[in-house]
Amino acid sequence: MLDILISDITFLNTVTLILFPLLLFISYHSLQNLLILNHIPSPPLYALTKWRLAFSDYSGTRTRTIHALHTKYSPIIRIGPREISFSRLSALRTIYGAGSGFERTSFYRMFDVYGTQNLFTFASVAAHSQRKKLLTYPYSKSVILKEGAARAVEMKVWEFMRLLEREPEVGREIFRSLHYYALDSITEFLYGEFGRTKALGEKGDSDRDRRMISDILDPKRRKLAWFACHLPRYTGFLMSRTGITEKVVEALGLLPQTKPTVYTGIRKHALEAWGAFKAAPKVEKEDKGATNIIGRLWESHMSNKKRVEGGLSDLEIASEAADHLLAGVDTTSDTLMFLIWALSLPENSEYQEKLIEEVNAKLLASDLDSRGIPTAEATGKLEYLDAVLKETLRLYAPLPASEPRCLPTDCVIDGVRVPAGTVVSMSPYTLHRNPDVFLDPLLFNPERWLGDLEDVAEMKKWFWAFSSGGRMCIGIQ
Ligand code: HEM
Repeated sequence: MLDILISDITFLNTVTLILFPLLLFISYHSLQNLLILNHIPSPPLYALTKWRLAFSDYSGTRTRTIHALHTKYSPIIRIGPREISFSRLSALRTIYGAGSGFERTSFYRMFDVYGTQNLFTFASVAAHSQRKKLLTYPYSKSVILKEGAARAVEMKVWEFMRLLEREPEVGREIFRSLHYYALDSITEFLYGEFGRTKALGEKGDSDRDRRMISDILDPKRRKLAWFACHLPRYTGFLMSRTGITEKVVEALGLLPQTKPTVYTGIRKHALEAWGAFKAAPKVEKEDKGATNIIGRLWESHMSNKKRVEGGLSDLEIASEAADHLLAGVDTTSDTLMFLIWALSLPENSEYQEKLIEEVNAKLLASDLDSRGIPTAEATGKLEYLDAVLKETLRLYAPLPASEPRCLPTDCVIDGVRVPAGTVVSMSPYTLHRNPDVFLDPLLFNPERWLGDLEDVAEMKKWFWAFSSGGRMCIGIQ
């Protein structure tokens, strides 16, 4: 009896010995968290721990949760122990204005490909601008119109129309078929004949490339992204296991996603395209590479410049191209899908009719190519189409979430003091729903973009689907 009593006391002592310092540490840490940014309004749980917002992220409601917090509390809110969300233009200029000095955070490192950084993932302004210099020219509007990329897109539009006729049941499922369209357009632009896909093509030709889209569409990628974002070291460790340890983590069900993980096909494709380009004779590289991104990047390849340092490696070029593919496919196809869906709703039939009227009235025979597809240049005169596109991107921005940035020094944003290293962010979702700028913000109304000039000028300042400043979307054209 005495033995049992003694062992119980020993157990309790041990538990207290372990728990007490742990509780003390947690309370100290929580108190410290609460105090750091206590001048910023916030619901307490968000200020205490980053896991509160991570929970919303897991449920797929992060962006809407932050928006609801802004609506309830203030245009400046604390969404984590060291994270603040803003929602006014003054903050937009400070954080995302040209030359602001704000860096992308480690969140973006999950977009490294083959463990190699690319334009999207560089934190520092210097590293980012050095890489961007190589890409600005081929992505510029004049080059896209002049050097064939626009012609390639017209061709893909024609192939998409043919798919609708040839395989109506495939074409009509626009979530998937618009992904085929975007994939073919973007691989043409990135790789040309060294890696163009044929997802819009005839059966047999298109099977492999259509399977690549299944990779992108797999909903399991959200779970992997969550783990990579919130538990990067744990995820990196688990996913990089090989041999027996790989089998063990698989058997224990610890992997956020079974292998091969999503995107594997796209990453493989990028490497193969680069391999095919590299193996081609020099004259072919010069001839056929001039109009695609890998050809442009090859001009800066280390072997080409005969430099020991400073040029791009094979993996850097493949990582860059694979990332642009990921950045361009979903964004393009989701926007088109939302546009078509919104116009298909009975309450929006008036907009659909007006759009058809504009196309019929403004496009002349000389604006069409030999297949009857409007040229990219001619579509520039379609103002109603532009308004429909803007309204789609406003209400259904394909990247609606916050874009995290930080600065290594203290600063002031929208009148509040922000300590060095604090993560700050804004989102298109919230900016695009400001009722003081966008009347009846939840209503799909393309005509708001054709109204009073002053109102339109104000709305344009808040339109942020492509971000802004040095890190804005390079694929906007
Ligand atoms: C409707 C279509 C698109 C939208 C709405 C869009 C939106 C965006 C946004 C918001 C960013 C900045 C994200 C951030 O900083 O967190 C971005 C960056 C980027 N986008 Fe797009 N994008 C679109 C299409 C494309 C296309 C077609 C490509 C390429 C073929 C592309 C390539 C890129 C790249 C490479 C970046 C990184 C730019 C940099 O860091 O300098 N995007 N995009």
